[in-house]
Amino acid sequence: MKTRTDEIADGIFRISTCISGIAPDGFTFNQFLIKADEPLLFHTGLRAIFPLVSEAVARVVPIERLRWITFGHVEADECGSMNQWLDAAPRAEVAHGAIGVMVSLNDLAHRPPRALQDGEVIDLGGKRVRHIDTPHVPHAWEARVLFEETTRTLLCGDLFTHTGDGPAITTQDIVEPAKKTEELFHGSCLTPTTGTTIRKLADLSPKALALMHGSSFNGDAVRAIQDLADLYDGWFRDALPMQ
Ligand SMILES: [Fe+2]
Ligand SMILES: [Fe+2]
Repeated sequence: MKTRTDEIADGIFRISTCISGIAPDGFTFNQFLIKADEPLLFHTGLRAIFPLVSEAVARVVPIERLRWITFGHVEADECGSMNQWLDAAPRAEVAHGAIGVMVSLNDLAHRPPRALQDGEVIDLGGKRVRHIDTPHVPHAWEARVLFEETTRTLLCGDLFTHTGDGPAITTQDIVEPAKKTEELFHGSCLTPTTGTTIRKLADLSPKALALMHGSSFNGDAVRAIQDLADLYDGWFRDALPMQ
């Protein structure tokens, strides 16, 4: 197992580990490190890969300087090593939406987490991240994404998940690979508001999409978000009983 690091936008580093045995062509687990006066990590990674990921982070920023530990929702790949990070970085604080803090993180985190309101911005000093609640999208009540405003990078977690160990950044279509992967894993929570919640993210006018599983995307991100929303709307309509 190897971990690679690529700067996918100014000061945003993708730390990627491909794990075999999940999909035939491999499956990546990506953490994003934002280098700023107050460095922030989005996704902690699994407990099992903490030694690899922490070594990669330390090559960019000393671990003890990490200020914010963040992730999309409460699952092992998103936050399994949360407490290992809190132990290694004494100044670090977990920040998550209010629901995640109330339901899980007040209990799970070794130190009290900070609860963020929908739309709240953390000024990292040189970078700014906006917290956006996306309940049940793609899954979990406490689901959320982060938008880094200076680079217009949407850290979109499990949205657009696709298999394979592709390049760090792609300009190719990511919607069709996401469709195939959804048909393989059925990882998303399909509700009447799934498409609407996804479509709203296009209002941010992101320039880049940072995916937890797969290549990051540089291209017409607004169009990709709209196409993904249309895909889920179609699946939801298809799932309705015949009138
Ligand atoms: Fe997930
Ligand atoms: Fe994930």
